[in-house]
Amino acid sequence: MEQGTTTRVGLMGWPVRHSLSAVMHQAAFDALGLDWAYLLLPVAPERLGDGTRGLRGLGFVGANVTVPHKEAVMRHLDEVTMEARAIGAVNTIVVREGRMVGTNTDALGFLRGLREAGVEPRGARAVVLGAGGAARAVLYALLAAGAQVTLVNRTSARAAALARRFEGLFQAKIRLLGPGSAGGLTQALGQATLLVNTTPVGMTPHVDRSPLPAGVRLGSHLAVNDLVYNPRRTRLLDAARVAGATPIDGLGMLLHQGAAAFSLWTGRPAPLDIMRAALDAASRER
Ligand code: ATR
Repeated sequence: MEQGTTTRVGLMGWPVRHSLSAVMHQAAFDALGLDWAYLLLPVAPERLGDGTRGLRGLGFVGANVTVPHKEAVMRHLDEVTMEARAIGAVNTIVVREGRMVGTNTDALGFLRGLREAGVEPRGARAVVLGAGGAARAVLYALLAAGAQVTLVNRTSARAAALARRFEGLFQAKIRLLGPGSAGGLTQALGQATLLVNTTPVGMTPHVDRSPLPAGVRLGSHLAVNDLVYNPRRTRLLDAARVAGATPIDGLGMLLHQGAAAFSLWTGRPAPLDIMRAALDAASRER
């Protein structure tokens, strides 16, 4: 039972249910003997300002932010870090001395997940599928790490806009490829060492879909990181396995973005093994 003295953090989204973040953070608090609670905070879009200010009013020390609030929440905060501004999204709020600071731990989480899987993005050639919110964090991370990026998206205008934004930020050149070009994509993958799927294609309930256009081949030299974690084993990762490539599932990024948020809130290193075990167990139950 929660006590009046319990320290609170939570997840603002709409709708919010069955959150793996709640499971991993609560497991971490409990394992360290912290009297902390991670609460689900459904906030309707038209109540986002009230909801965000409510965090401070109710004494929350922080929150995670998810769909559809990651962009809109920025205007309700006292400060937004340069990284979150560059990515264009806040996934973590820290309330410190009454100030609400928005930050983004997705890019760092993505990089840590990659490195833990043995992939070093510095100087690597990477192909990124998708140009939405998740792609922005991935592009930021890859370009900051000095990777060369080819961006592939269904809607080419969206990819072009994203490329312009990041080329300006990083003084880098981003190659664009349309999804219709199976030959071009196979060639780009032949020269790359990393493929990242940031689209939701393959997510439950459409588990038989793959974000790779038909006719595109994967080579055994590739690491393939699917950010979809529901299911953990996606059609794309199966194709990677069959090709002898290295499959990397989406739980690594989820874990490490959460671990970074945990440390910002608590000031302590995150108990990674506990959080990983909680995620493993919860994702098996799904
Ligand atoms: P998020 O913010 O979670 O990344 P999003 O903004 O909806 O989600 O972006 C999802 C990305 O996946 C987009 O690049 C989208 O392509 P479009 O820009 O053409 O919309 C891509 N995507 C979503 N569904 C897709 C599908 N069925 N086939 C190919 N791409 C898809």
